[in-house]
Amino acid sequence: MRRRVVRFILNGEEVEVYVPPAFTLLEVLRDVLHLTGTKDGCSDGDCGACTVLLDGKAVHSCLTIMAQVEGREVTTVEGLAGDGEPDVVQKAYVETGAIQCGYCIPGFIMATKALLTANPSPSEDDILEALRGNLCRCTGYVKIVEAVKKAVEEAGR
Ligand code: FES
Repeated sequence: MRRRVVRFILNGEEVEVYVPPAFTLLEVLRDVLHLTGTKDGCSDGDCGACTVLLDGKAVHSCLTIMAQVEGREVTTVEGLAGDGEPDVVQKAYVETGAIQCGYCIPGFIMATKALLTANPSPSEDDILEALRGNLCRCTGYVKIVEAVKKAVEEAGR
């Protein structure tokens, strides 16, 4: 398979990978760069476990090929904590008990980050719409929506 160099910004640092351009961002994050916070739930765009930010917008990294990533900015869950302190969204998910098995949570957290960046005061409908592409098999979503509301409150302080 032909390979090429793809350069992009990952969690604030310039990175360069030598991969087939049709490799997905999810494959590169997990298998090439060993950033395993981003999860592979379905590899097919259905579950949202692989959600990362691409230029600040939530995308399914399993559906994003590396040719689309060249020169752009990617943020994964590993890029959120500053100085070892969890981000306000990460804290809110923990403090509301929104995490059970935890597998889907990095994807939910990244989708929440994208929402709060675009809309710092979302309504409940906005929250449900923003998280529509993310599936959780444990929580029933109630605590997840509470977590987003708590993050909104905390971010506004
Ligand atoms: Fe990408 Fe499920 S792993 S949407």
